Amino acid sequence: MRMPDIIAKKRDGGQLDQLEIRQLVTDYTNDLIPDYQMAAFLMAVFLQGMTYEETAAMTMAMAESGKCVDLSAISGIKVDKHSTGGVADTTTLILAPLVAAAGVPVAKMSGRGLGFTGGTIDKLESIPGFRTTLTQREFSDNLKRYGVALTGQSADVAPADGKIYALRDVTATVESIPLIASSVMSKKIAAGADKILLDVKVGSGAFMKDLGAAVELAGTMVKIGEIVGRETKAVLTSMEEPLGLNIGNSLEVLEAIDVLSGQGKEALREVSLTLGAHMLNMAGREKSQAAARKLLEKYLDDGTALRKFAEFINAQHGDPAIIEHRELLPQAVCQQQVFGGASGFIEKIDVAKLGYSAAVLGAGRTYKGQQIDLAAGIVMQCGIGDYIEPGRSIAVLYTNDPMKLSAAEQLLRQALTIGRAKIKRPQLILGVVD
Ligand code: URA
Repeated sequence: MRMPDIIAKKRDGGQLDQLEIRQLVTDYTNDLIPDYQMAAFLMAVFLQGMTYEETAAMTMAMAESGKCVDLSAISGIKVDKHSTGGVADTTTLILAPLVAAAGVPVAKMSGRGLGFTGGTIDKLESIPGFRTTLTQREFSDNLKRYGVALTGQSADVAPADGKIYALRDVTATVESIPLIASSVMSKKIAAGADKILLDVKVGSGAFMKDLGAAVELAGTMVKIGEIVGRETKAVLTSMEEPLGLNIGNSLEVLEAIDVLSGQGKEALREVSLTLGAHMLNMAGREKSQAAARKLLEKYLDDGTALRKFAEFINAQHGDPAIIEHRELLPQAVCQQQVFGGASGFIEKIDVAKLGYSAAVLGAGRTYKGQQIDLAAGIVMQCGIGDYIEPGRSIAVLYTNDPMKLSAAEQLLRQALTIGRAKIKRPQLILGVVD
């Protein structure tokens, strides 16, 4: 079928068959379909959706667009974790070393920032020397030797997702259940882990704004996992406020170091411990959530996880000296404190707007392949339920381009709804789909 006919079929609400989907994914991966046609197709999917069968076919075509990693030679149950994307969601940087420290191999394939959300690969690239693309051989050697390996999309593993993901990021086609499910699950299937734990974010800083949509996305991914024989579980977690305090790449590495040192924002530690405990249980390490959690708490508090983080950085050619010498991470030349404008309690946060504010400062992209400013971002000094008033510092902005400060500050202010009522902090863990 010709590409314009495939686009028209989906645009008009038709159902594509497996062959059509495979041809589309293969041809796009091999540069036989230009970005403008793929963008039109993605928008048609965004508007019309996909059936469950189409989503499963898209997932498998994307997973098989490159090589599927075979980790069977590595002993133990390998567990992968993936977040559907949030703001100040630094959990992967914490979980990879933490879970590996508990003896469960973590084989992880990650992405770059998408829309208003940050990406683990961009964050890790702020560590001098850190290599985010490993060959399959290096990936499995590191996993065997250190119990943890992390790579971004490369030309040989799920390349279709790498290309489609970058295009969606700049064509307003991210918030689509079939596109998110196929993107996440294709990477996870290709990366070869035995079990997959998904962190499905819900709220103003997530692609799924309400619980119903998040449950549908989680259910779709769990079902795809079931079909391909990879046990998949999804934890639904809140994104009604940034998970950590730091938004931006090197800033989030700093906050990960804090949590790995037994400190950091309580919500970030809590979600990391919950997800980590599920990963341990799925791998057969500790029977209950409580026992797994206790072990992980101990590793955060006694330095074991932090040491594993240093080992992980070193294994991927990064400089672990950043842990002791934070100034080795990219530094922004401009810092600006933001003060409260009105008196009252923070009732609501438009978290996506905060993500865009960080992107304006340079932490995210507005076009494909754009260079980002690894030092740029925001450190929040307030959250839901906090009382703010003129003169009270509410955030610090970081950037290397002073021209960006005023637009970013305006967005940040717009993101906060101030009222008279003292609102309780949102519940963090909203449920599990398995
Ligand atoms: N994470 C992904 O890997 N893909 C998406 O589409 C969204 C979040």
